[in-house]
Amino acid sequence: MAAKSSKRNQILILIFSSALVALALYLFDHFFGVRMEKGAPHADVWKIPAVILWALLAYLGVRLLNAALFDFAFRVRRGYEAPTLVRNIFTLVVFTALFVVIFKSFYEEVNLGALFTTSAIFGVIIGLALQDTLGNFFSGISLHADRPFQTGDVIVVGQQKHTGVVEGITWRAIKIRTFQNHVVLVSNSNAAKEAIEVCPRDNLNARIVFFGTLYTDSPAKTIHVVREAVRDADNVSSKITPIVRIRNLAESSIDWEIKYWLEDYAKYNDTDALVRQRIWYALRRSGLTFAYPTRTIQLERKVAPKPVTADEQIADRLSAVDIFSPLSTEELQKLAAATVGHVFAPGETLIRAGDEGSSMFVVHNGRVQVQVTENGRPRPVAVLSEGDFFGEMALFTGEPRTANVLAIEETEVLEIGHVAMKHLFETNPDLAESISWTIAERRASLAAGSQQLAQASIEESAGLLSSIKRFFGLR
Ligand code: CMP
Repeated sequence: MAAKSSKRNQILILIFSSALVALALYLFDHFFGVRMEKGAPHADVWKIPAVILWALLAYLGVRLLNAALFDFAFRVRRGYEAPTLVRNIFTLVVFTALFVVIFKSFYEEVNLGALFTTSAIFGVIIGLALQDTLGNFFSGISLHADRPFQTGDVIVVGQQKHTGVVEGITWRAIKIRTFQNHVVLVSNSNAAKEAIEVCPRDNLNARIVFFGTLYTDSPAKTIHVVREAVRDADNVSSKITPIVRIRNLAESSIDWEIKYWLEDYAKYNDTDALVRQRIWYALRRSGLTFAYPTRTIQLERKVAPKPVTADEQIADRLSAVDIFSPLSTEELQKLAAATVGHVFAPGETLIRAGDEGSSMFVVHNGRVQVQVTENGRPRPVAVLSEGDFFGEMALFTGEPRTANVLAIEETEVLEIGHVAMKHLFETNPDLAESISWTIAERRASLAAGSQQLAQASIEESAGLLSSIKRFFGLR
């Protein structure tokens, strides 16, 4: 209402001003008309006030015509306000034409065209100075010619994605009111270079809102419930039914989107929020559940590994050792539990000749070499592999180690101590005898290959047995 009455006042002022200027013209002509006549002294100078008054009258007339055309005729026919730029161009063109006519009628001899066209420098200066302004001006004209949007439309423009309602297009810029109620001016020349997303005011523009439900919820039920909840929400168009569809089967949710059409796109923020609210209540009433990130974690308990292998494997290995073959399964398991595993790298020394020793070893994996030192050089005596044992001589006799034992390759051995062997001897009296034989044979072999000495060593085994029994406190 206020805008209408101010327009009316404007027109009244224009009419009144035009009447005043017309009166001034009449009076000027009445009193000074003679002085402007051809041949009168200084006639050209006297014409200047007349030209100015006529130009003023022409300007007021053009403004009146502008108001009549655009404020009334255009509005009534098109239903919206005429763009400011178009109105200004109209005023400029008509006024310039009228001014030329007025000027020519007073100064017939002056060639106006030559005045502008002969001055090239003038043209260049004007061109450079108005480069940006003219760019904006012509971009503005082309925007109006294309009519890609009009006042009231929502547009997204520029690299910064300025979004808002178009308030107007001036000589220089497009004026947008953002949803934070700020005014953004995008210059016409920039707007002409950028992509502009237009959501026309009289168009059914769509929006998409996302949500997620649990995998246990029925998709068909979700579609029905959500669609019905949203379709009658405020500003959601009733002309097109909202579409609810699955957009992804995600890690911990069924991801949905709802597409709906708005009556007034400029209010899409409020409507999006309302749609989300409607969905929340609808899901709650229907026993459907929003998804939240979930992850199933299966914990694997790690049992601390025995240094080398499990007890069963060790018992298996020991049962393959010839001196332990008479042992029962239970005895083997007890012995296995009493062993300690060690791993040696190739070339490492497991036993050094001359050292004290109170345990023996079974080769679990790999190979070792037994060697004695003669004249400062190592002499290999034997190679022992899986299931063989060594170190028994010092363990059962209490004497120092008789030879060096080195790993040929990566080797795992099982160490059996004095206490474990003592338990075995108590329940297996024959064990001491079979070990005494092995020791006797090995001693013989150590005795530099001499057959006689070897024979003597074997015969010695009877004496060896009694010393083992004594050492272990056996009867
Ligand atoms: P011990 O003397 O305790 O330490 C060195 C080990 O080498 C010894 O026990 C035997 O087990 C082993 N050994 C010595 N001579 C031989 C041989 N001729 N054959 C196999 N093994 C041997």
